[in-house]
Amino acid sequence: MTRYSRAFFELQWQFAERVAAISGMSREQALLHYTNFYIRFGLGREFDANDAVWRIYIDGLQNASDAVDWTWRFFLTRPSVPPPSLVAAFGCFSYSNAGNDAIRLHFANAESGNYSPLSCERVEERRAELRALFDYVRQTHLPVQRVLGTSWLYNLTAYRRLFPSGYVETARESSARFQNMPLWGQFLDRRGDVRPDMKAILLERVARQTRLHDLAQCFPLRALAVDAPIALFDGFYRAR
Ligand SMILES: CC(C)(COP(=O)(O)OP(=O)(O)OC[C@H]1O[C@@H](n2cnc3c(N)ncnc32)[C@H](O)[C@@H]1OP(=O)(O)O)[C@@H](O)C(=O)NCCC(=O)NCCS
Repeated sequence: MTRYSRAFFELQWQFAERVAAISGMSREQALLHYTNFYIRFGLGREFDANDAVWRIYIDGLQNASDAVDWTWRFFLTRPSVPPPSLVAAFGCFSYSNAGNDAIRLHFANAESGNYSPLSCERVEERRAELRALFDYVRQTHLPVQRVLGTSWLYNLTAYRRLFPSGYVETARESSARFQNMPLWGQFLDRRGDVRPDMKAILLERVARQTRLHDLAQCFPLRALAVDAPIALFDGFYRAR
């Protein structure tokens, strides 16, 4: 299971503070709409400002001597919740239903050793996981026609090489995903710590912006959306 460090929450806190400063929106609104906190607290995707658990978090900020500490400790009390409509997991990969004829792929580090899950040494393991996933989909979901994904990971050669080229070539910049891991995941290393280089780029760029509209461009990598026929995967993991 992915670990999330205090620094991951601190970075998003700093981003939300900047959002509030340049937009005039309240800190509460900025935390709800411009961080991954609501999802990390396991509250789903409704982003309901009146959610009872969210209110406990927000109200607790009033009395907190260190707001980031409060946020981090609050997160640690929350149960881990899988993505919505998750169907099955195969090592680092899992998928959810995405409408009648599509599945959506997800990635999270499930390696127990010290290797990067995206390293050359682990490519065959990752492909074996994907082979098992697609075998399972074919056996259990006959109508599935399309495979979708949205992630910053589609920018990386180390990730793209795990898939048929026709699939990753459909990658298009998605709208800014300020509440989601497909954007914020780029700041994590495999241990759940924050990557100092990526953090420095974001904070330096954000400090120079004066318009809310320009904040999406401050992220070193964009979230990319892919959408391709499942037929592209036929035989792909066997032929190698
Ligand atoms: C993916 C993840 C495991 C990579 O962390 P890591 O294993 O510590 O990363 P490494 O530094 O060892 O890099 C592995 C490879 O990915 C590349 N890479 C990883 N993170 C990168 C980043 N933020 N920017 C650029 N390249 C990156 C490295 O260059 C390397 O590629 P190479 O072997 O071709 O040089 C980590 O970022 C993570 O768990 N992120 C959260 C997962 C996520 O975002 N899930 C939601 C997806 S929607």
